[in-house]
Amino acid sequence: MPPPRTGCRTSAWLLALTLLAALITGAGAVRAEPERVPVGDRSLSPAALALAQERAVERLAGHRRPVFCGAGRLPDVALTFDDGPSPYTVPLLQLLRRAHASATFFLVADRLADWPDLASREARLGAVGDHTWSHPRLPSLRYDAAAWEITAARRAIAAASGREVLLFRPPYGLTTPRLERLVGRSGMLDVRWSVDSGDGLPGATVKSVLRSVESAVRPGSIVLLHDIHPWTLAAVRRLLPWLARRGLRPVSVPELLRLDPPTIRRLRGDDSQRCGAGVTAHRR
Ligand code: CO
Repeated sequence: MPPPRTGCRTSAWLLALTLLAALITGAGAVRAEPERVPVGDRSLSPAALALAQERAVERLAGHRRPVFCGAGRLPDVALTFDDGPSPYTVPLLQLLRRAHASATFFLVADRLADWPDLASREARLGAVGDHTWSHPRLPSLRYDAAAWEITAARRAIAAASGREVLLFRPPYGLTTPRLERLVGRSGMLDVRWSVDSGDGLPGATVKSVLRSVESAVRPGSIVLLHDIHPWTLAAVRRLLPWLARRGLRPVSVPELLRLDPPTIRRLRGDDSQRCGAGVTAHRR
């Protein structure tokens, strides 16, 4: 015999009330988590998104100070790959694409001739930056030669990628005040890092790279990696699911700076205060 209709209605009401209560308590818990800004990626066309990212980079470049990390208000991190392209770049791009991850590539321009189509593929997946023509220690060069390393590389990377190059990273993190002024005048943003994977150290392994990144990465981190080592590729294969499990989204540097730019105070602070973690030296 079917239950009376009123009973059915009462249980439906009870169910609805329970759901409502769960939603209200649940909402409180969600509010404590870092929230995305209301303007999501989906509300912007690809062209509008690219423009907004460009504006974010240009706004920070105007302060003429290196950027070490985002503000850390959102669960976004920027993986950066220096010194490529190399034979490991194509498998890395496939890995990143499959994981719906973005990244930023700081290119050494004299290596572009060997992989002519890679810069544009890297720019489509994320962003490309200027890492000089031949990766010298800039302070040990004459000013003119150092300036040429930066400007000639920028032109070559722009030609190869089909994009204006707005990001710069000095090799080994070494530059001079005069070269910093040149980079600033040219409208590029000097992008450093807050987490060093140590993948260029002698004896680096998949495990050492993972340990270095996983122990230090946090919302807003800019992570230094190099797509010229097989162990880096293998480490990234394991790092991407690790980040996903922690809700950390790999975005490009321009996207990190659009969504979660560092405060001006942090931009002007000294290294130790910048990102809440020690900034380590660049080895390669
Ligand atoms: Co480098």
